[in-house]
Amino acid sequence: MIRGILFDLDGVLVDTAKFHFLAWQRMAGELGIAFGHDENEQLKGVSRRASLEKILAWGGQTLPEPEMERWMATKNAWYLEYVTTMTSADVLPGATEFLRSAREAGYRIALGSASKNALPLLELVGILNLFDATVDGNDVTASKPDPSVFLEGARKLNLEPHECLVVEDAAAGIEAALCAGMFALGLGTPEALPKAHRVLPDLKGQDPRSLVADLEARAAAIAHAGAEGAAAAHSAADGASAERLAASQPAITHSAADVAATPNTHLPS
Ligand code: BG6
Ligand code: MG
Repeated sequence: MIRGILFDLDGVLVDTAKFHFLAWQRMAGELGIAFGHDENEQLKGVSRRASLEKILAWGGQTLPEPEMERWMATKNAWYLEYVTTMTSADVLPGATEFLRSAREAGYRIALGSASKNALPLLELVGILNLFDATVDGNDVTASKPDPSVFLEGARKLNLEPHECLVVEDAAAGIEAALCAGMFALGLGTPEALPKAHRVLPDLKGQDPRSLVADLEARAAAIAHAGAEGAAAAHSAADGASAERLAASQPAITHSAADVAATPNTHLPS
């Protein structure tokens, strides 16, 4: 049963992806490395250092540590210059309303972001007070798809991973949620986030209780399909073919961890 919701920041609550893009593109330009929207997509949810490492690798370059530090600081200074213009109007469609109604419905709310700028940004756009707990890039070192940021969020909310729903816009973030054994709601397109349990364009008009009920029903349907598959395998006359049939079924039980480990491309979005 889902009792807590963990939100990514960039691209889920605030429209900062464009500012990260502009700052990385400016840096890549100075280093003579080609950087477009396809490359930027691969940096969503990825920490500052890991992003720099990827960009340098795309350009076939390496830099000594002091230069790495200098570029990370420069990129961040440019990024902060861009984001200071943000106000509460830059919170993504439906996000504030969703956070408020989720709180009213009794869900515990946490932030799970790779960003080291997360808290000042939430304060800047006026939604920091809607969180029961926050985990950001200052608290964990491993970058998504590592699940640490969400596991730490669940711990702070005093919940088990299978009681948590993650809302993410990045493929790396969906991976991290699944790896943590949580439910995963993707914001974006099913093509970009094929492993999410469900994908929506944004949170506009969404009711947290209905959304949670729908995700739990989808998980139960997957578990049911898995149980039927296992029963068919057991009743098959030929032991070897029964084994093959069983092996072809997704490993599903009623736990969210198993549901999460199963790609859900067959489910409607
Ligand atoms: C993630 C963004 O939320 O935070 C990434 O999707 C970004 O693009 C990462 O690199 C780290 O952010 P920051 O603010 O610490 O540089
Ligand atoms: Mg994001």
